[in-house]
Amino acid sequence: MKAQDIRKKYLEFFEKRGHAVIPRALLVPYNEATVLFTGSGMQPLIPYLLGEPHPKGVRLVDSQTCLRAQDIEEVGDNRHTTFFEMLGNWSLGDYFKEEQLPWFFEFLVDVVGLDPNKLYVTAFAGDSEFDLPKDEVSAALWQRMFADKSIDAQIAEIGSEEAGYKRGMKDGERIFYYDASKNWWAPEGKPSQMSIGQPGGPDSEVFYLFESVEHDPKWGEHCHPNCDCGRFMEIGNSVFMEYVRGENGFDKLPKQNVDFGGGLERIAAAKLDSPDVFKISVLWPIIEMLEKLSKKKYDEHTESMRVIADHLRGAMFLAVDGVRPSNKEQGYVMRRLVRRAILKAFDLGVEQNFVQEITPIIAELYRNDFPELLENEDEVVAVLVKEEKAFKQTIRKGYREFDKISEIANRRQGEDHNKFTGEDVFTLYDTYGFPVEITKELLEERLHVFGLSKNWQKQFETKMQEQRERSQTAAKGTFKGGLAGHNLIHKKYHTATHLMYQALRDVLGDHVVQHGSNITEERLRFDFSHPEKMTDEQKKQVEDIVNEQIAKDLQVSYKEYPTEEATGPLGALGQFGDRYGDVVKVYSMKDPNSPSDERPFSFEICGGPHVDHTLQLFEDGKKFKILKEESSSAGIRRIKAALV
Ligand code: ALA
Repeated sequence: MKAQDIRKKYLEFFEKRGHAVIPRALLVPYNEATVLFTGSGMQPLIPYLLGEPHPKGVRLVDSQTCLRAQDIEEVGDNRHTTFFEMLGNWSLGDYFKEEQLPWFFEFLVDVVGLDPNKLYVTAFAGDSEFDLPKDEVSAALWQRMFADKSIDAQIAEIGSEEAGYKRGMKDGERIFYYDASKNWWAPEGKPSQMSIGQPGGPDSEVFYLFESVEHDPKWGEHCHPNCDCGRFMEIGNSVFMEYVRGENGFDKLPKQNVDFGGGLERIAAAKLDSPDVFKISVLWPIIEMLEKLSKKKYDEHTESMRVIADHLRGAMFLAVDGVRPSNKEQGYVMRRLVRRAILKAFDLGVEQNFVQEITPIIAELYRNDFPELLENEDEVVAVLVKEEKAFKQTIRKGYREFDKISEIANRRQGEDHNKFTGEDVFTLYDTYGFPVEITKELLEERLHVFGLSKNWQKQFETKMQEQRERSQTAAKGTFKGGLAGHNLIHKKYHTATHLMYQALRDVLGDHVVQHGSNITEERLRFDFSHPEKMTDEQKKQVEDIVNEQIAKDLQVSYKEYPTEEATGPLGALGQFGDRYGDVVKVYSMKDPNSPSDERPFSFEICGGPHVDHTLQLFEDGKKFKILKEESSSAGIRRIKAALV
């Protein structure tokens, strides 16, 4: 069974159980989300988990493409990838544990055909600080399901991860209680990290045991399901999202939700009983092509080939989803992926046309489920080749910088005479993309003169650590912003964005189409097609229209329509390049004193949420104001505006 078959069977399995299949969301989150990438299947569904009705009902299933940039450095081992697919099924206030756990078990054992003896599971041990109960229901369900397969599954109390390493597992144990550090899931993290209004809940994970992998004590004395040695691999997580963080502890959400996520690549690896995920059917053909191009063997160049396969696949999906390499945000991550892949290709001795050889293979792997890869292949190749050329130029610049540093090193006195410091190595790495190995190789070539200073490694590590902290802080900040998306201020900016979009079309013309939007506590940002700089007059007109409409106290409401009707005869605005399901929510903002058959001022496809009526935007004496209008990329302008 290939990964492609597992994906298909999963969607069918849940479709038969009343779930609507929904399309993947783009890797770049739509609208108000301020995270850089879609990193889990639930992210695009947060509003619905918090109670907004979903146009496709209360049971949903999909395979969501995800990108986790924070895992870039981990790629190269047997299981990490930056890009992956998360199979997901959701109950929006409908079924709960009693259905979810047996369904997933049935899917793994009876549909995929995994040996139940290789499956190990966990459940939430409870949390006394927040008065959250132990999840005995899940543990009992698991025990019964294993018993049905003639497996006597013993329950073990573990607690923390550290406790797991100390205690290990005893014969017969298969169901493990872990504390909130392992068996609680919320987008923001653990119960103590969650801010008020955020949803979360206990979860139950399923692990697959690779008997061929020996426990590595470098991780801890004994192995246990949550050990990092690779003997156990998590293949699915059922989150029982039934709590919301309140002022004092946790309250129950009005309805109990299920948020399930399972890595397609990992389930496919379990099916092959291969701890190496790169052996699966959506990655292995890329490796085979690399072997062919380089005339080298995967077994001898494992890490390089894994990095190339993962990074190019991710970069290709990013390109299809509209990202272009740059020095900022998503573009920066894409640039790193492409450049790292190219450097690894150099290592393999593949320098020519390699992007063009690999992309058709990736496109073909996704022919049926994500045909957009094949459809956009030429454009994607153009984007990647352009970046490849730019990178080769950067490398040339890096060589020049290397020479400059050599001259400086030559003037250094004392023991650092002719020595590169950790800071020099970091500059070459960070600014010019020189991996440490290249710098070292170059130094070796000139070793009779140049070398590394005594403390270079420590300095380099310090610099790297600082950089990691900077990006982590940024990632944390943005994630929080994204989820705080349901606060009043976010709703206000979201509503203001719709008003401004219509006002821009009124002032500049109907060629204005939304290309992106982002909201923080402080401002809205909006990208749109328009060939030239806006004049001061035009900006003033847009501001005036938005403020006039707010003053009319437009009523904000939504209705669901078949997508073709909404985008066709009804002429609802949408976002460029976005794919929608077959039913969409359309938000109207309409003057309550206007005739009922008059067209609303704003009529736009959107998931919400919004304020109920626009005068809320003027609270605290605020007015809508454009702060900045600038170029974003060729033919695209960017506005930042706020309520001030
Ligand atoms: N949202 C859950 C996860 O990402 C399923 O693990």
